[in-house]
Amino acid sequence: MERSCQFARLFEPAKIGNLELKNRLITTAMVTLLNDGDWLPSERLTQYFERKARGGWGLIITEDYSICPEAKTFEKMLGLWSDDQIGPNARMVERVHAAGGKICAQIFHPGRQTTQSLAGSTPVAPSAIREPSMRDTPRALKVEEIKEIIDLFAHAALRAQKAGFDMVEIHGAHGYLVSEFFSPYANKRLDQYGGSITNRARFALEVVEAIREKVGKDFPISFRMNVTDGVEGGVTVEDAIVLAKLLEQQGVDLINCSQGMYVSREVIMPPTAVPPAKYAKNAARIKRAVSIPVTAVGRIIDPNMAEALLETDQADFIAMGRGCLADPSFPKKAQTGNVEWIIQCIGCCQGCTGQINTGNHVSCMLNPLTGFESEYDLQPTEERKKVMVVGGGIAGCEAAIAAARKGHDVVLCEKSDSLGGQWLQASIALGKEGFSSFGAWQSNELRELGVEVRLETDVTSDYIVQEDPDAVIVATGSYSWCPPIPGLDEASNIIDARELLTKGDCPTGKIAVLGGGLVGAETALYLAEHGCQVEIFELLDEIAAEAIAAPRKLLLESLRQRNVAMHVSSKVLQVGEDFLVVKHNEEQMLFNGFDHVVTALGARRNEELDDLESAYTGEIVFAGDAKQAKNALGNIREGFEAGLAV
Ligand SMILES: Cc1cc2nc3c(=O)[nH]c(=O)nc-3n(C[C@H](O)[C@H](O)[C@H](O)COP(=O)(O)O)c2cc1C
Ligand code: SF4
Repeated sequence: MERSCQFARLFEPAKIGNLELKNRLITTAMVTLLNDGDWLPSERLTQYFERKARGGWGLIITEDYSICPEAKTFEKMLGLWSDDQIGPNARMVERVHAAGGKICAQIFHPGRQTTQSLAGSTPVAPSAIREPSMRDTPRALKVEEIKEIIDLFAHAALRAQKAGFDMVEIHGAHGYLVSEFFSPYANKRLDQYGGSITNRARFALEVVEAIREKVGKDFPISFRMNVTDGVEGGVTVEDAIVLAKLLEQQGVDLINCSQGMYVSREVIMPPTAVPPAKYAKNAARIKRAVSIPVTAVGRIIDPNMAEALLETDQADFIAMGRGCLADPSFPKKAQTGNVEWIIQCIGCCQGCTGQINTGNHVSCMLNPLTGFESEYDLQPTEERKKVMVVGGGIAGCEAAIAAARKGHDVVLCEKSDSLGGQWLQASIALGKEGFSSFGAWQSNELRELGVEVRLETDVTSDYIVQEDPDAVIVATGSYSWCPPIPGLDEASNIIDARELLTKGDCPTGKIAVLGGGLVGAETALYLAEHGCQVEIFELLDEIAAEAIAAPRKLLLESLRQRNVAMHVSSKVLQVGEDFLVVKHNEEQMLFNGFDHVVTALGARRNEELDDLESAYTGEIVFAGDAKQAKNALGNIREGFEAGLAV
């Protein structure tokens, strides 16, 4: 449904230097690992960009291109360090242009934020100081090497221009080489490239100067800069204002604000618990200091928020990273007034950073097509079937949506009185309130696609036989499971974590949480937030070990702030009415005085419909936890694939 556009500022054409953009929405650079390890854009990467272009973004910024083979942070990088790389990039750029997009190449050198094995030699940096989250200590660059790197930047920019990119962006943020030089946290040099703020800015300014000389005065140059490093002793907003003014004088056309370094990666990619648009106020200060355009970034997740930032003059452009992974059609939907159809990024970091950090290509937990643009057959079916989906958790809903989009006639049955399943519990955890937006999106889609939803419907094999669908997708989820612990079954004060979060009625007093995985840790935080005195007992040597680094760091900080005691490497041997016997490092210990014991020890697949095959002869597909208990990332994809498979 097309409605009039309510976002006048967002969809106003605007310029960066001489580059005219149709709107003020920019997708930021994001590593994708979608290439084939040959430094060149792959067909998959091209389709990923084409989808964004069709989605209506004013400008797409690519992931960081290496300026030399040593500038490597992953096995699969893009490169602009050889003239042979111009042609293949030109073909990708042409396709993006043909899809209606404008595209900018980001170029970078990682400095000390890489490893010896990736770089092929000792990493280099302004000073020989190890980045706290990295293994290897870099060596300090000599002045002649600095000049060589500046030259590499200039040549990479020229290749980007020759390939037809609409703009080039210097990656001067996130603790990579250019930002290391400017940061007093990383740069302890005593020569002309260190010490005073002017000296620390010198490298960035010389890179800009060299690029400008190569690309000429009309080719737009963006500089991505840290407005704060997010660490003590790092770049502050005041420092960034000085740099922004110098960059403007040097001929930069856009200041693309960002923040954070590897050691403060939760600042680079603010997770769910961080308030939306938290860092926009820093961009606003840069904007007031310069007259070239400035972007704001960081969990700007809905068009109303974006419009408000523009209207209040906090930025000239709105940059989104994960927002465009969650919904590449964000601009189109916003422009046509279909805001409720936007899949809003929830900051979970699971499908994007979580996948990249384990060497997989980029994806989005909420949007199974992201990063998989060419991998699914989305053509409408020629054989319309009656499909029954059993279970209205996120996997079941996703399956119903995918099957209905294929053109099937879908009925979705859910035992409880609402859709969402475990997702509802996840949304209750502190700082994850934003998760509910995805449930709302799924409900909208189901309604729009005409899926018949039957709540409070307990589906048995007999029910299915009676209904006689052509295919059944079993997405009945999982149940909480506890290993046999002496006393656990007899104690009267046991509460299941899932049940606690579902009902939302919080116990009081001193609580032991058994199991310090993500569910246990989030439940502990919820309890502590509601005034309980909480202790977690976890068998492994880490709390929330399965969580993604950035959200995990914030979760642990929140637990510490609320004085939650975290006992790791602790095996619970016995549960009593108000005590636990725990084995820690071969030592038995008694913990007592508990009012309740909350269990978060694991999950097992529901087996309720395992007998279906003997009663029903149609097609049966198991999906989500009902196939095997797993996390939401796997469940949503599996639901989606099940919906396409029937
Ligand atoms: C998977 C992933 C890869 C990223 N890679 C880059 C990169 O190559 N260059 C860069 O400047 N920023 C990179 N970023 C940071 C984003 O561009 C963006 O600044 C950050 O995600 C915050 O914006 P958001 O809240 O809109 O996602 C990356 C972020 C993610 C999630
Ligand atoms: S995986 Fe999570 S954080 Fe990443 S883009 Fe999707 S919703 Fe956002």
